[in-house]
Amino acid sequence: MLLDVQDVSVQFGGLRALNGVSFGVQEGEIVGLVGPNGAGKSTMVNAVSGALGRHRGRISFASHDISGLAPSRIAEMGLVRTFQLVQPFRGLTAIECVTLGALYGSGTDRPTGVPAARRLAEQVLAFAGLSAAAGLACDTLNASQRRRLEIARALAARPKLILLDECLSGLNSSEIDQGITLVRAIRERGIAILIIEHMVRVMATLADRIVVLDRGEKIADGPAAEVLTDRRALGIYFGTTA
Ligand SMILES: Nc1ncnc2c1ncn2[C@@H]1O[C@H](COP(=O)(O)OP(=O)(O)O)[C@@H](O)[C@H]1O
Ligand SMILES: [Mg+2]
Repeated sequence: MLLDVQDVSVQFGGLRALNGVSFGVQEGEIVGLVGPNGAGKSTMVNAVSGALGRHRGRISFASHDISGLAPSRIAEMGLVRTFQLVQPFRGLTAIECVTLGALYGSGTDRPTGVPAARRLAEQVLAFAGLSAAAGLACDTLNASQRRRLEIARALAARPKLILLDECLSGLNSSEIDQGITLVRAIRERGIAILIIEHMVRVMATLADRIVVLDRGEKIADGPAAEVLTDRRALGIYFGTTA
């Protein structure tokens, strides 16, 4: 198991955002994490990526216990995330933003020096369909370009696992199709993906397995075809799109 989440609970004051949730992601797998607003999906991404600091339970990545490690350390190990609310660095161009991602990434092939990082950033921008936007200021990009930039920044860190938190939300139908194609291409590079998305179409097309959260509890976990035909899971799942 590449990512192994065991019995994770997160408490915010009196609110239990996650309650004893366990699940895993295998190498090369696409796992969908779904559930209504407030179910605890982003909290799980925060816990796994180290953004929360403390949680109960155990999270291991590539057989290392990463509970309590700093996000930068976890990213170096090859686990990176995108943010639901994209906040591109003001004043930086798209290529500069992705070059930063390349400099702070993982792996033995980590580029040394800015020119090498910039060459990697150029390749990743091309992969994400953003070559034409390379020289544009991040904060002038449209919604679809920002989502792609966020994915490109994460990919430049050469992850083994990427956590995509609602990376397709707010996009139109053809942009979503392009996003699906991009996510598939990421997997073809051997990168495992944990994807949070409300749209059934996206989950049905992309996910190998689906984990359903509701009010901090895991209520379903199985092959996508099974979960998408489970009435209880579906009722809660569709609650998200209503
Ligand atoms: N930093 C925080 N402080 C306090 N409450 C939080 C914090 N982050 C999330 N929550 C609460 O935890 C619950 C789960 O939130 P979240 O994980 O963002 O849900 P989802 O991503 O599934 O919509 C919500 O009730 C939310 O208001
Ligand atoms: Mg969320």
